Amino acid sequence: MSRETRARILPILREAQAKHGHITPDVVAEAADTLGMTVGDVYGVATFYSFLSIEPLGEHVIMVCKSVPCWMKNSQVVIETIQQELGCKVGETTEDGKFSLLTTNCIGACDHAPAMMVDGEVYGDLTREKVLEILNQLRR
Ligand code: FES
Repeated sequence: MSRETRARILPILREAQAKHGHITPDVVAEAADTLGMTVGDVYGVATFYSFLSIEPLGEHVIMVCKSVPCWMKNSQVVIETIQQELGCKVGETTEDGKFSLLTTNCIGACDHAPAMMVDGEVYGDLTREKVLEILNQLRR
């Protein structure tokens, strides 16, 4: 796949993600048709990037950075706190459909590690207490 094609497909998939909360099979088929790609190629792009999902996600999407600088600053505590508090594991959505917990590579906030992104907003210098505070605000 050429760089140009990849550059054209990402905005389409991002828009679909924002609109539907995930990439649906219809979107994959339509994008493939529009760009003259195979469904497999589009599917490959849709499953490659951590900010895209082919699975329906919760109302709030939490993405904890799993890259080394955050890991060295105890990102595992962030993940464990969220898992305990929400009762779901990484890759899962809570039963009420309110939260999805995912991990991602660096989100560009290494100087504030450990960091996470919630609904596209970056939170850094995370501690267990700060994570609990953020979750409580999201529950309101
Ligand atoms: S390594 Fe976590 S934000 Fe960069």
